[in-house]
Amino acid sequence: MRNQVSDKKPDLKGFSLLLLEDAPLPPDTFEGALRSFGARVIHASDTGEAIRVLAREHIGIIAASLHLVDERFIEMIREQKARYPDTLFYLITEQDYDRVETSLDAVNQVVDDYIQKPLDALRFTRMVETTLGRPRTGNTSLSVVEPLVAKIKPYFLFRSSAMRSALSSLPGIAASGQTVLISGETGTGKELVARSIHVLSPRSSGPFVPINCGAIPESLIEGELFGHEKGAFTGAHRTRKGKFETAHNGTLFLDEIGDMPLTLQVRLLRVLEEKKIYRVGGENPIPVNVRVIAATRIDLAKAVSDGLFREDLYYRLNVLRIHLPPLRERIEDISLLAVHFLDRAFAEMGRIPPYPVLSSETIYLLERYPWRGNVRELRNVMTRVATLLPPGAKQVFPQHILSYLEETEMPAPSLPPQGASLITIPLGTPLGTVEELLIRETLKHTNGNRSRAARLLGVSLRTLRRKLNQKK
Ligand SMILES: Nc1ncnc2c1ncn2[C@@H]1O[C@H](COP(=O)(O)OP(=O)(O)O)[C@@H](O)[C@H]1O
Ligand SMILES: [Mg+2]
Repeated sequence: MRNQVSDKKPDLKGFSLLLLEDAPLPPDTFEGALRSFGARVIHASDTGEAIRVLAREHIGIIAASLHLVDERFIEMIREQKARYPDTLFYLITEQDYDRVETSLDAVNQVVDDYIQKPLDALRFTRMVETTLGRPRTGNTSLSVVEPLVAKIKPYFLFRSSAMRSALSSLPGIAASGQTVLISGETGTGKELVARSIHVLSPRSSGPFVPINCGAIPESLIEGELFGHEKGAFTGAHRTRKGKFETAHNGTLFLDEIGDMPLTLQVRLLRVLEEKKIYRVGGENPIPVNVRVIAATRIDLAKAVSDGLFREDLYYRLNVLRIHLPPLRERIEDISLLAVHFLDRAFAEMGRIPPYPVLSSETIYLLERYPWRGNVRELRNVMTRVATLLPPGAKQVFPQHILSYLEETEMPAPSLPPQGASLITIPLGTPLGTVEELLIRETLKHTNGNRSRAARLLGVSLRTLRRKLNQKK
């Protein structure tokens, strides 16, 4: 009997894996195989080294030899999981794990599964895939829809709660077949969301057809969308199908819907209501079974009140809504994405791992940059960095990046935020108390949002967290 799951090529793309192991590993078997499945593997030989790695970069999967694990490390895993509930933690055991499993309570609360030696990359990867398909250990807040999101996660990277909540309705939306409106600044991942909805929907075997309404001259959009009949205009020598017909039984992605001319908005609304189209110059209705997903970088509600967008079409599109927050409002995602794009660029250039890593000053810089072009801009910057980094460099420092950042003005940490309330600090207050007070007031100001507080304070999120932990 053939097993469906095992026939699929194992896939660990987009995952960074920390391996804590001291025994000599067969690198060309276990580690090498994991790499060939797409994972980035970082090796540590003691807990101190592992903790430093975890502090420095985002790790999705941790596999540690049981005999190396100490309390401090378990505590670190607990913190990591509290912060990033998707983190997977595996214990590598020498023998019969049943005994281990029942004997270590603290470990049991954080471990996702046990791997028995000898290490087998394929078996391990299947295990990861299985774990990804079910709610994580000790996290009851994860909903039953989580496995579906996990399916797209290797390609869609995030760890911020802002993205998590923005995408929480995605599986339900995908299943529904309704029209969706995706809003968000340029480069925030609107098209990626549209593709994910398609992939997770019952139409996934049909086509996904994107069209950018802003990039096509007004005179041509109609023909692009609906096609034309032979002889419809001078030069129309033969009949041509439009995007609506091409997308039959699939999904049509109308990007930058706000740029669609008003006259065409009327026609689009009719198509959505009647589910049939007329080619330009054609008289016979052609039935189409198409799901429409629209995206906009502008505020459509405002466009409606300005008379630039039809209200009826707006309500017809706005049945289901996903809003993607700008990257600067989800600082936790920045280093994750930066490392991903950098590694991908190195891999595409054919460089041999281990790849150069981002220094902590660089991460600090990236986390404070405003990223008006969002994820797309971050990707482009990382690609340029990878291409032009001096060959011997082991780390990426701010000087390698600064010239690629278009906005040279970083938010100045010395300026208080506009309209900020003032706090009074009596002379003679110890410096430590001032810091504590300032942090507390800033957090009040941001309603407890740590990312925003860190930006206002001019420190990295990591630094703020460290300070908060010290204060406890
Ligand atoms: N969360 C993410 N994880 C991985 N790649 C992303 C993510 N968000 C955006 N991207 C990538 O950034 C680029 C811009 O995304 P895109 O969906 O085209 O943005 P938009 O349509 O909002 O302008 C694409 O290459 C996309 O794959
Ligand atoms: Mg786009």
